[in-house]
Amino acid sequence: MKGKNILVTGGLGFIGSHIVDELINDNEIIIIDNKSTGKIENLKYPNHENMTLIEKDLNDCDLNEILKEVDYVFHLAAMASVPLSVDDPIRCNKQNVDATVKLLNGCRNNNVKKIVFSSSSAVYGNNENMPLKETEPLNPTSPYAASKASCELYLKTFYESYGLNYTILRYFNVFGPKQDKNSQYAAVIPNFISALLEGTQPVIYGDGEQTRDFVFVKDIVQANIHSAESDYNGIVNVASGRKITINRLYEVVRQTLDYDVDAEYLPERKGDIKHSLADVGNMEKINYKIDFENFENQLKETINWFKTQL
Ligand SMILES: NC(=O)c1ccc[n+]([C@@H]2O[C@H](COP(=O)([O-])OP(=O)(O)OC[C@H]3O[C@@H](n4cnc5c(N)ncnc54)[C@H](O)[C@@H]3O)[C@@H](O)[C@H]2O)c1
Repeated sequence: MKGKNILVTGGLGFIGSHIVDELINDNEIIIIDNKSTGKIENLKYPNHENMTLIEKDLNDCDLNEILKEVDYVFHLAAMASVPLSVDDPIRCNKQNVDATVKLLNGCRNNNVKKIVFSSSSAVYGNNENMPLKETEPLNPTSPYAASKASCELYLKTFYESYGLNYTILRYFNVFGPKQDKNSQYAAVIPNFISALLEGTQPVIYGDGEQTRDFVFVKDIVQANIHSAESDYNGIVNVASGRKITINRLYEVVRQTLDYDVDAEYLPERKGDIKHSLADVGNMEKINYKIDFENFENQLKETINWFKTQL
């Protein structure tokens, strides 16, 4: 993608900052971020001449003005924590749903070419019909998941009512450099790495035979860019389509770091699902394919980044 005007909401966060890093040299980028969890240090080029940073909540922005020249919107800004959303559902709704409707309205007023929305596998809830297809029903079990499901419905509605093009990306367990080790998502990878590097014993909840479907943050970036460039209006799971047990994951992390430490097993956490696996067939619709053979190298890249943070 070159020579475009792009808005990245949540561009100072874990995933959003990777999108900015990838696009900044060849495009004009506006970032809107309220810094609730994001930080400027996440950016590779914090002073790049192609970047305009608006440090505000989306709800407080004059979006009609900001979106005037914008071609594409990557919408990542959100309260991205399930427990926080359970503590404060009203704030979650404002930060996630109100902000999205406002943004969508700005997009339609300014004829934005396409909006790509970061949704989550959380919208499937406790569905055991694996691998999960995008046609499975919405079944949110937290205010966070409900907010993502609501946003998805609004995206579809804005397409039907005003012709605003969209792709909804449902991420599974994302991992990679810059991930906050206190993040609620896939925290297992940053937790394993940081515990080992800091000399504490990593924890596995339950028997470790639960499975997850991990996806590298750079694949998320490519899925976003390919979505913007595709004609597809609809929903796409973004995942590897392969499951790995938490025990096996721990083995790979431990061996990669060359540490000989056993994990501590604690009781299963309430609300944790046993298995998660995506059907990734829809990724064809955005012309993107994930190379899952790369998992160990991606893990190494992540570990190397965590080492720089010590
Ligand atoms: N990380 C994952 O594993 C994962 C999985 C599924 C979905 N997602 C979704 O992907 C998106 C990005 O997630 P992340 O892991 O990078 O989270 P993050 O918390 O690192 O990034 C979110 C960014 O949005 C900003 N923000 C939040 N609400 C805002 C608002 N109303 N106005 C302006 N800025 C706001 C925050 O300051 C932060 O920089 C989120 O929408 C999240 O729900 C993430």
